[in-house]
Amino acid sequence: MKLSPIALKVTILSHTVGGTLGFGPTQIDLTFPSTNNGKIIASSPFASTSISTSTWTRTTRLRATVEDETTDTLPTEETTTTTPLADLEQRILQDEQALAEANGVKGHESSSSIEGGGGEAAEEVEGLPWWWEFVWDLDIMKKGEPGSDCIFGDSANVLRTNIEQIYGGFDSLDACPLAEGEITDIADGTMFIGLQQYYQKYGSPYKLCFGPKSFVVISDPIQAKHILRENNNAYDKGILAEILEPIMGKGLIPADPVTWGVRRKQIIPAFHKKWLEYMVGLFGYCNVPLIASLERSAQTNNGKVEMEEKFCSVALDIIGKSVFNYDFDSVTNESPVIKAVYCALLEAEHRSMTPAPYWDLPFANQLVPRLRRFNKDLDLLNDVLNDLISRAKNTREVEDIAELENRDYANVKDPSLLRFLVDMKGADIDNKQLRDDLMTMLIAGHETTAAVLTWSLFELVRNPECLVAARAEIDRVVGDRTPTLEDIRGMKYLRMVVAESLRMYPEPPLLIRRCREEDKIPTAHGGAKDPTIIRGMDIFLSLYNIHRDEKYWPEPDKFDPLRFTRKYSNPDIPEWAGYDPARWENRLYPNESAADFAYLPFGGGARKCIGDEFATLEATVTLAMVLRRFDFEFDEDKFTDVDIMDHPMGLEHPVGMRTGATIHTRQGLHMIIKKRNMDS
Ligand code: HEM
Repeated sequence: MKLSPIALKVTILSHTVGGTLGFGPTQIDLTFPSTNNGKIIASSPFASTSISTSTWTRTTRLRATVEDETTDTLPTEETTTTTPLADLEQRILQDEQALAEANGVKGHESSSSIEGGGGEAAEEVEGLPWWWEFVWDLDIMKKGEPGSDCIFGDSANVLRTNIEQIYGGFDSLDACPLAEGEITDIADGTMFIGLQQYYQKYGSPYKLCFGPKSFVVISDPIQAKHILRENNNAYDKGILAEILEPIMGKGLIPADPVTWGVRRKQIIPAFHKKWLEYMVGLFGYCNVPLIASLERSAQTNNGKVEMEEKFCSVALDIIGKSVFNYDFDSVTNESPVIKAVYCALLEAEHRSMTPAPYWDLPFANQLVPRLRRFNKDLDLLNDVLNDLISRAKNTREVEDIAELENRDYANVKDPSLLRFLVDMKGADIDNKQLRDDLMTMLIAGHETTAAVLTWSLFELVRNPECLVAARAEIDRVVGDRTPTLEDIRGMKYLRMVVAESLRMYPEPPLLIRRCREEDKIPTAHGGAKDPTIIRGMDIFLSLYNIHRDEKYWPEPDKFDPLRFTRKYSNPDIPEWAGYDPARWENRLYPNESAADFAYLPFGGGARKCIGDEFATLEATVTLAMVLRRFDFEFDEDKFTDVDIMDHPMGLEHPVGMRTGATIHTRQGLHMIIKKRNMDS
């Protein structure tokens, strides 16, 4: 199915119409939201409207649907049609053909060309319905105040702009070219690859329209700097907040700007220097069971081991201990609580990849087995977190920030972040807020680190010369000891391995924003002139595109940790300050300033990751301990029947890529390990 106008021609009639198209960490809403949270409609001004122009006589009835592993179905007012992506595509295609036939046009090409604005689009202009202008006088269509939360009128007005541009021949208000493509380009689990191909064709920004929803894709560092840092107040987390709210509540990632402002100030001091120094020891301690488990694997089962899962376990153990002093012990154990954590993670991912937000439908939580299971797991997790919070509060010892930052962690019984947050003088210790903060850090700090470990190991095994360099450094600096903060400072190459993995596999590959007030963004090199993001517009900021752009990173697909030692600028883009290693000299990793926002491993601006140093230290300790002790090779048995040139794999290697909240391998990182021979 072609993207853009074709999809816009789908007239949605039902009152319970729904449908979201999930891509990577987000989903595109196919509903006309009538509530200000932008979800399921109650009624739409388009509902049951017959539209008189040729294009608009077409009616496609899409229903909110449920597709569950366990074949759940939900009762709806009328007939319920399953609309997973393939089905949706099929229906729209059929509709398209029916329309073409009715109009006496043969085949599918009738209206699938979609260049926006002028040019080819001029032939596409098919006119607007007679009632068009009247609709916009209705109260429900009014836009919200600039800077306030977006409401239905804002989304409707974004849609209006798109329709007027595509069907009315109006100038585009945002000046962004409309991308044309096949839905399979972005709906196969590696959406970020499809978005990269569009970027190569359209520059930054471009616009994709889907159903009544559209989003602008930003792939330029100067524009990213503007959105993330210079005019950050004009944006919120939009769709991402809607998806994550049921799981993370008002935790920092989905938090609205007001809650975020209060909580960020209180949480940031918890990541102070002394605590991080103490954490390095804890990372080593949590890696001991991993090493033991790998030793067992090396001796049995021909050394076969799935490393992605192992890294997930160790990252979970680390986050549990450091954030709320809880021993998941997941490297060696399975428990209902661990299962509940994975269930919450999977559900967050599932929601971001699901064509219909069925969890918002009335009674869905009671009727759908998947949701019943999820809610049960969430209850279990909440019980654990609430219990930990109560215990911490019962033993609260109020101190001011300076005292807390000077704690002697070696002699503190509970060094966790929760303890800090509870003990902080004047802190907001509302149970619900603390629970949301903990849950957010549990999820944000676990999978991301597991992913960077996975891709670092993958690239090191694929690039033996880099592995040799990393090992030489580990042997020289740490040997068999557990690494200290000083050791990590001394292992610059290994830190650059982590940084290079995050460049090639950014976690998450896309950042999500929604515009709260009209914003003129800078013109990008080779992109549309004077682009304007209009209020209500959803944005994907593609870290993947920026990190893999040869304008900023020569040979971007090459794994080259030493690139971070070389200065680079591009005379064709004088407005980009270039990459300069001197700008991160005393830091743990090459940050966004070192590359003038062409490298954003932890985001940038006000909503930058608070766990950046924590994660860099954790990944370096884990890699140092594992690489010192084991030899790795790919388990070729797992590669049979895998076509490495198959486009959806997105990687010229059978391991392949797949997006959830982060970039995963397709089927796991299967390796054969051996204990390393230290004599060689
Ligand atoms: C390699 C590991 C990690 C990566 C790649 C990573 C990446 C990111 C990125 C890109 C953002 C910005 C999101 C945005 O602007 O929309 C972010 C935000 C965040 N991260 Fe991380 N992260 C990592 C580890 C951690 C850890 C270990 C923690 C906590 C212990 C953490 C907690 C958070 C929180 C709370 C936010 C939201 C900050 C805010 O909105 O104020 N992250 N992370």
